[in-house]
Amino acid sequence: MQVFDQKKDLIPFLSSHKDENRSVGLVPTMGALHQGHLSLVRAALDQNDVVVVSIFVNPTQFDKKDDLKKYPRNLDEDLALLNDIDKDIVVFAPSVNEIYNGKVQSESYQFDGLDQVMEGKFREGHFDGVGTIVGLLLAAVSPDKAYFGEKDFQQLQIIKKMVQLKGLPYEIVPCPIEREPHGLAMSSRNERLSQTTRNEAGFIYKTLQAAKSKFGTESANHIVDWVNDQFVKNEVLELEYFEISDEETLTPVSEKQTYKKYRAFIAVYAEGVRLIDNLRLN
Ligand code: PAF
Repeated sequence: MQVFDQKKDLIPFLSSHKDENRSVGLVPTMGALHQGHLSLVRAALDQNDVVVVSIFVNPTQFDKKDDLKKYPRNLDEDLALLNDIDKDIVVFAPSVNEIYNGKVQSESYQFDGLDQVMEGKFREGHFDGVGTIVGLLLAAVSPDKAYFGEKDFQQLQIIKKMVQLKGLPYEIVPCPIEREPHGLAMSSRNERLSQTTRNEAGFIYKTLQAAKSKFGTESANHIVDWVNDQFVKNEVLELEYFEISDEETLTPVSEKQTYKKYRAFIAVYAEGVRLIDNLRLN
């Protein structure tokens, strides 16, 4: 498996493939790979000749120093997992200095309001950091397609918006959420939970499913109140937000419109670990 840590080596390597008309797929990750990431890698392998997986814990998207410090890092395990899937996968695992060149700072973005709600409201500067790193990775790899999981649905919409606003020639491919047996959406953060809490956190998905079944007959406000009540009664999980929003604009629904697609979005703390999830409602 080819592992690069510098753009000056990666770029000519990829150019030689592009010169032979080989398509390139990019799967950006922060490592601590799990089945969710691997499903993105498999989709990329199905659709491209060359697949680049980037592994980089991006400091500018963390609003809390402690969260950045505790983010799981295990490059050797990640490489072994990727190698098991396909030994031709190309890995780009740069250092912070290679990416930020001594100036660890985000660009400022306008995402047409998509960044003002939910994660944007609770994690200051998060989406500027995401836009910055994804922009840098797309520029370095210049892929035909880049793959992002729907677990971070707001991030996915923001990246699509960035590509559209900048007129970038990359196709952004959404991939469905992978779940643990109890329903918890797969995330590198799940590793920080005790097994008991990890099982209990299946409650998040169960609540989303219940919200979905209520959505046909009950008002959004009523469902939001109901979900809040469920979490007040739960002693392990602390609700940060639950919103029902238009899938395209991410604005909270006031009155349902039949031609629009709505999604429920949730963020919850468990043992100090922040977990997010979402589910399409109609
Ligand atoms: O979704 C993630 O893991 C990260 O936000 C991403 C897209 C790799 C950027 O650091």
